[in-house]
Formats: sequence, structure tokens, C-alpha cells
Amino acid sequence: MTGTATANLGSLNTWIGPYLLLEGTMSATNLPLPVNSGERKKVTTLALQAMKRRAESITMLTAYDYPTALAMDKSGIDVILVGDSLGMVVLGYENTLPVTMEDMLHHCKAVARGAKTALLVGDMPFLSYQVSVTEAVRNAGRFLQESGMDAVKLEGGRERLEAVKAISQAGIPVMGHLGLTPQSLHQLGGFRPQGRTAGDAKRLLEDAMLLQGAGCFSLVLESIPAQLGAFVSKKLTIPTIGIGAGIGCDGQVLVTHDLLGLFERFTPKFVKRYAEIHTEMLRAFTQYIEDVHTQSFPGEEHSIEMKDEDWDDFLKEAEDGHVD
Ligand code: KIV
Repeated sequence: MTGTATANLGSLNTWIGPYLLLEGTMSATNLPLPVNSGERKKVTTLALQAMKRRAESITMLTAYDYPTALAMDKSGIDVILVGDSLGMVVLGYENTLPVTMEDMLHHCKAVARGAKTALLVGDMPFLSYQVSVTEAVRNAGRFLQESGMDAVKLEGGRERLEAVKAISQAGIPVMGHLGLTPQSLHQLGGFRPQGRTAGDAKRLLEDAMLLQGAGCFSLVLESIPAQLGAFVSKKLTIPTIGIGAGIGCDGQVLVTHDLLGLFERFTPKFVKRYAEIHTEMLRAFTQYIEDVHTQSFPGEEHSIEMKDEDWDDFLKEAEDGHVD
């Protein structure tokens, strides 16, 4: 993708990811605004597989709304996942189990309006694919038909093969998800790392191979030992996207609210915080409250103006008793 862009832009310009550096005017430490995402090619499932072959790391983040999707797409992300983590980081649930198809579609639509370039993956919520294969295909189809997603993601290994096969045979790209699968939280005994014994690691590798065989175009590996993440990634021809699965995966994903520091709550060990937005929100809200209390907001610069003559005419009318 980036190679194509470089070729089109000619020799005066340098392409660094999504950023266009104009020679002589910019440096990598003085990044300009990202190039309008419209100039980049739409990321496809095939493009991700080509990235794996070229050993280029794939970037994925979660988004649940329009402005976040817009910013993420502009910044040059490869894949946006509308994760069912939505339930925890946006809707305030304890876990992902209460999230419904309607919740997911609503947020997917907002993301699709903001992101034009990234591959868009919609996360199938609890009970939307476990009850029957027919329901799984119908619900997967809704993500593409009604909410502008390009692919779906679902959790689980060998027990999901029939659903994965049927969905991908319906022409819908499927991303698998192994390791810590939050929809099975109660079966796993909590949000705990997976694949840490020889037997569990072997089962995970088998599941990964089976999902690849059933038609998955990619796999998320969550909270597993780094050496297992690297091993599975080498064995598979499809790209793996790790979250707490080490540097050996073909790509990385984080929950955006964790990366941005949108909460003061516990964040898993594998999260790197790139901002402290919660602290910044607190600062802004507190300042606003103080400004209103002390009447330093709104200032003149925030007020709507009216010509003096119009104001005088109004006062005359009002004072002459022409206004009830
Ligand atoms: O729901 C989600 O955000 C996810 C990611 C953690 C991969 O499944």
C-alpha cells in the first residue's frame, strides 16, 4: 500500500506510513498532518496477507464512534475493529456478555461513516453465532449489509468450525479469536492468560490450524505466552494479530480506550498507555465548572454580536410598548 503511494507521489516527496513529508520542509520529528485518507488505497484481507508475506507489521485498534474512526483512519491504521469490548469501555458493563447485535450494528454504522480506508471488522456479540449455524450466517451478513463492515470476528476454536465455514462460504471474511476469549469468561474462570501449559498450548495451536483450514483470513491471539504467539504465527499462513501475545505476532491490536488512558481503572499488563485522556478530561471539566461559576465563560469572543442600530431599534420598540 505504502509502496504504491510513494510511486504515485514522485521523487520530491517521501512517504512515511500515512504521512507525506515534503522534502526540505519537514522532518520525521516534525510530522505534518496525515495525508487525507482518501489518497490511500482501501485495505483488504488480501492486503493483510501480503503484509504477512513481506513481514510488515499489521496495525489494528478498536473504535466505536465516528470521530475516533475518522482520526484513526487519517493516521493510517490498517484495521479498525468495532470490538464487543464496547460493552465494557463505552456502555459501562462488567464484561462483554450483555452486548447485543443492535448495540454492535449501531456503533459499526458510526465507525463506517468515519473510516474509508482501514479494513473494518465487526465483532459478533455473545449468542449471535453460538446458537445455530444459520443464525451465525444471518447475523454475520447483517454486519456487511446493514452497517458497512468488511469482515466479522468471532471467538473460539474447534467448536466454531461449522460457523466459520458457513460464514466464509457465504462470502463474508472471518477473523478468528483464540486464547483469552472474553465471551467465555465464566468458563475460563476470569480474565486470565491462556495457553500456559504444554497441553493448553498444543490445543491452541491445533485450533489455530483448524480455523485457518475452515477459512479464517486472520486470527486474534489474546493473552498467551509470547513464545506461543510467535510459534503459532510462524506455523500459519494467515496473519495473526496479537494482544498480550508478544512481538512475534504478525500484527498488534489494543483496545483504544486503554491506549488513550480514558479510564483510571485497572489496565492489563500488556497495555501501553500513549495518552492520559481521563486526566485531561477531568482537567477540562473542572476548569469549565470553575469558569461558569466565576463568570469567566462565556467571554465576549464567544458571544453573538448584533449591530448597535438594530439593538437601538429593538429597545425603542420594546420601550414604546409595542412588545407584549
Ligand atoms: O472486543 C475487542 O475489543 C477485542 C479485542 C481485544 C481484540 O476482541
